[in-house]
Amino acid sequence: MNPLNHVAIIMDGNGRWGLKHRNSRNEGHKAGLHTVEKIIKETIRQKIKYLTLYAFSTENWKRPKIEINYLFKLLENFLSNKLEDLHKKNIKLNIIGVKNFSKKLNKLLYLSEKKTSKNEILQINLALNYGSKFEIVNALKKMNQNNDTINEKNFKKYLQTKDIPDPEILIRTGNTKRLSNFLLWQLAYAEIFFEKKLWPDFNEKDYIKIIKKFKSIKRNFGKI
Ligand code: FPP
Repeated sequence: MNPLNHVAIIMDGNGRWGLKHRNSRNEGHKAGLHTVEKIIKETIRQKIKYLTLYAFSTENWKRPKIEINYLFKLLENFLSNKLEDLHKKNIKLNIIGVKNFSKKLNKLLYLSEKKTSKNEILQINLALNYGSKFEIVNALKKMNQNNDTINEKNFKKYLQTKDIPDPEILIRTGNTKRLSNFLLWQLAYAEIFFEKKLWPDFNEKDYIKIIKKFKSIKRNFGKI
């Protein structure tokens, strides 16, 4: 059976779900947050150690201001209300991406990371203002500044995921088959599962089905 330490998810389809069911894209994001909570619980139940969630990409700044503000308010409320609970559950919160949000949100993010830094049941990597190409170029710049020898092992040290094993599974919901600038280096050998369901409709059963399927796959890593 394949070991499974890290699941990465592109939570796509909130907007479409919201428009279809509530006539509002933002309501879709709100519903998407419930799915986030369900999937966190199931990840712990499955004893998976890392969960990386793509919550906001560097490209998402192109959305209407009203939607961007709503998303960050949702995150702010989530952290304000649930941080204690996450901490009690021994969950570590780690942000990947560039923290250049409002003063209030930046502070909350730093605080959440600090408070949960020693927790060890599950590490949630929340990708916020994250873009993989930016991460890679930034890593190369730093490598160059340090005059470090260019090889894979050294390169990994400059990524924001330096202490995290690469994801074995990538799930993208929302019936779209692309990577959208997410973990391009780290996903080199991931098994990719494209789900037709929109993120708010995705549930524990769907997640368990993917994990089961993953465990039965013969992973060759180039061998035969
Ligand atoms: C993509 O769906 C989803 C996002 C850009 C935001 C993801 C946010 C959440 C799941 C809720 C908030 C999460 C946290 C952790 C606070 P889309 O809007 O691109 O959907 P569409 O393709 O139907 O337009």
